[in-house]
Amino acid sequence: MKLTGPVLAIAAGSLALTASAQPQSTTLERGRQILEANCQRCHATGKDGASARPDAPPLRTIVTRYPASDLAEALAEGIVSGHPDMPEFTFEPDDIDAIIAYLDSLAGNN
Ligand code: HEC
Repeated sequence: MKLTGPVLAIAAGSLALTASAQPQSTTLERGRQILEANCQRCHATGKDGASARPDAPPLRTIVTRYPASDLAEALAEGIVSGHPDMPEFTFEPDDIDAIIAYLDSLAGNN
C-alpha cells in the first residue's frame, strides 16, 4: 500500500511527459469536472473563491498541505478520516490520474 502513492505519481508524471498538449488539457479538464461534481458543494475547487462550507478548506489550500498523489490515493481507497459528514468517495484509476493532474495544476506543479 505504501507504494501506491509514488507509483501513481510516476504514472501521472510520465503521462505529462508523453502526452501532447491537447490530451493533457483534456485530462486536466476531466479532473476539474470530477472535483467540481463531487467536492464543490463543500470545498472551493478553483484557483480562488471561498468554499461553500466555511469549515471545508479550499482544495487549493489542501494541496499545499498534502501531495496531490497522497490525496488521490486516499480518494482511491475512499476518504473517510477527518471527514465526519463528508461522503465516502471511490474513483477509477483513470479518474485518479485526472484528479492528480488537476490538483497538481492548483498547486502550481504543471
Ligand atoms: C459534504 C461536504 C463535503 C464534500 C462533498 C467534500 N468534503 Fe472534503 N471536507 C469537508 C469538511 C467539512 C472538511 C473539514 C473536516 C475537518 O477539518 O474536520 C473536509 C476536509 C477535507 C480534507 C482534509 C483537509 C485537511 O487539511 O485535513 C480533504 C483532503 C478533503 N476534504 C478532500 C475532499 C475531496 C477531494 C472532495 C471531493 C472528492 C471532498 N473533500 C468533498 C466536507 C466535504
